[in-house]
Amino acid sequence: MRINTYSEYEIAYRKSVEDPEAFWTEIAENFNWIKKWDRTLEYNFDEPNIKWFQGGKLNITENCLDRHLEKLGDKTALIFEPNDPKETYRKFTYRELHEQICVFANVLKDLGVQKGDRICIYMPMIPELAFAVLACARIGAIHSVVFAGFSAHALADRIIDAEAKVVICSDGLNRGHKQIPIKSTVDEALENCPSVEKVVVVNRLNWPVKMKSGRDIWYQDAIKRVNSDCPATEMDAEDMLFILYTSGSTGKPKGVVHSCGGYMVYAGYSFLNVFQYDNEDIHFCTADIGWVTGHSYILYGPLLNGATTVMFEGIPTFPDPARFWQIIEKYAVTHFYTAPTAIRSLMQSGEEHVLPYGLDSLKVLGSVGEPINEEAWRWYNIHVGKERCPVIDTWWQTETGGVMISGLAGISPLRPAHAGQPLPGIQPVLLDGEGNEIAENDKEGYLCIKFPWPGMLRTTYGDHERCRLTYFSTYKGYYFTGDGARRDENGLYRIIGRVDDVINVSGHRFGTAEIENAINQNKNVVESAVVGYPHDLKGQGIYAYVICHNQPSIDEMQWIRASILETVVEQIGPIAKPDKIQFVYGLPKTRSGKIMRRILRKVAEGDTANLGDISTLLDPMVVEELKAGVVL
Ligand code: WTA
Repeated sequence: MRINTYSEYEIAYRKSVEDPEAFWTEIAENFNWIKKWDRTLEYNFDEPNIKWFQGGKLNITENCLDRHLEKLGDKTALIFEPNDPKETYRKFTYRELHEQICVFANVLKDLGVQKGDRICIYMPMIPELAFAVLACARIGAIHSVVFAGFSAHALADRIIDAEAKVVICSDGLNRGHKQIPIKSTVDEALENCPSVEKVVVVNRLNWPVKMKSGRDIWYQDAIKRVNSDCPATEMDAEDMLFILYTSGSTGKPKGVVHSCGGYMVYAGYSFLNVFQYDNEDIHFCTADIGWVTGHSYILYGPLLNGATTVMFEGIPTFPDPARFWQIIEKYAVTHFYTAPTAIRSLMQSGEEHVLPYGLDSLKVLGSVGEPINEEAWRWYNIHVGKERCPVIDTWWQTETGGVMISGLAGISPLRPAHAGQPLPGIQPVLLDGEGNEIAENDKEGYLCIKFPWPGMLRTTYGDHERCRLTYFSTYKGYYFTGDGARRDENGLYRIIGRVDDVINVSGHRFGTAEIENAINQNKNVVESAVVGYPHDLKGQGIYAYVICHNQPSIDEMQWIRASILETVVEQIGPIAKPDKIQFVYGLPKTRSGKIMRRILRKVAEGDTANLGDISTLLDPMVVEELKAGVVL
């Protein structure tokens, strides 16, 4: 399954395009199936209807854990590095992890959880989060992990949409110097979530939280009542494995659904090849399991390959900006995978934080989540990788399940700020505005994928039509990524960014409509419009234009601004706070009432010299006001 040279890559790629079914059949045979599949692929991109490995039976946790026990039982599977470096770290061998997961699975069964039930997990980055996720998979419950930075309101939306039966959380979480409540946020969310019957609370901070009798139980008590014997539930290849919510162009986040068989094959295959994993490697991915990167490359990908994976509870700057480098030295990390925002911020802190640490163990550096600019790429390459380690820029999405376009570490040609070539089995194309494929190199277009791959989403939970409309209707016969890309003269792809109304802030996706909806909840606000603008650290920042009821004075603007930020934190969470707010009297609208965002983007970028044609505006004077407006 592992590709070792560039010519092997070329052979694999050619085969994967000429005979995709034969290609994926061979890959899938590297996994344990309770029963082999009858049909490798059935699909059409119109409905869409995508089925991989139909008739196959499996359980992904048997592939992540049980099958390694004989040979790797005593190997470290998971290393937990706590927020506070003075707290003792925890390590779990494959045997121990297996046991923990079976115990947690039995706790869930004890609570009446059955195959197909949805479980919402809202937790800090502690080992019990990993246990909870895999425990769901063990018994065929569908996990929906919600990033613990989301507000009660956002959490409730996701619980309601998935009709979750159980919520798993902790009392609170550590974040640098701060301790942040979790359970009370869950309580607030659950005021409006009738589907939830039970709440399992993991004790992380020893906080005396309120427990609702009949509903809430402490995890540490519940495990005393169960044993560690839990056979894996047999799943169909196309059964749902998990839901993960992600923002789109409309206000409501959508639940991206992944299947058991296809996701397993793709997460396992992509991890092995992109990172060029070797048996003794130690893999450290800094993402949160609340996002897809954590799902695929902290948990499933590494464990499917019998790797050692590091899970870090804290933040890169606590207790100082050397924390990542300390962790790499402490555990002799070989593979380090992080986001450009983190690289840029550590770059700003200065090399002096990196230089004292022994980073000789490193073999591969990875980047994910947003375009990496050349400067950050070079800094990463020189100061972290010491120009010895390939720096791979991995492009993919929640919807794709695993990395789609990326160099294979140490094998593929690398070019700074370019993701590179597609993985075997992935057929990207660039389309022009009319939907025609652009055949030449050195061209830019809309990035689409023209053939299915096992890790792709199957539907959006509870709303298949939305899946069709969002991904399969813009260009008939293609999966549309929402990204624009350029293919250079050698066929290497560079991702330019979103071409829809999605902003990518520090690698996190937000729909502009989602943030507008939140801002509009503020009682001072009549209307708002949100756009992205280039931000030195975050890649993109959030710029909000706001119309208020009365024309506020500068002083009033200050407190309204503060109040709007509060509203956004309440509605979505701190990560969605606008960076800039401009108070305006009107928005540039066409006669049909459509906001001309192009103009708003230009003004936000400070590029007001060339606003293009504004003659179709209902009131062209608005533009002058925008240019002169006060930005806070
Ligand atoms: C962006 C994260 C440039 C892109 C795995 C995509 C990237 C969105 C890269 C998905 C990259 C991800 N270079 N842009 N290497 N990786 N993106 O679903 O806009 O959180 O559509 O998945 O992030 O974000 P998501």
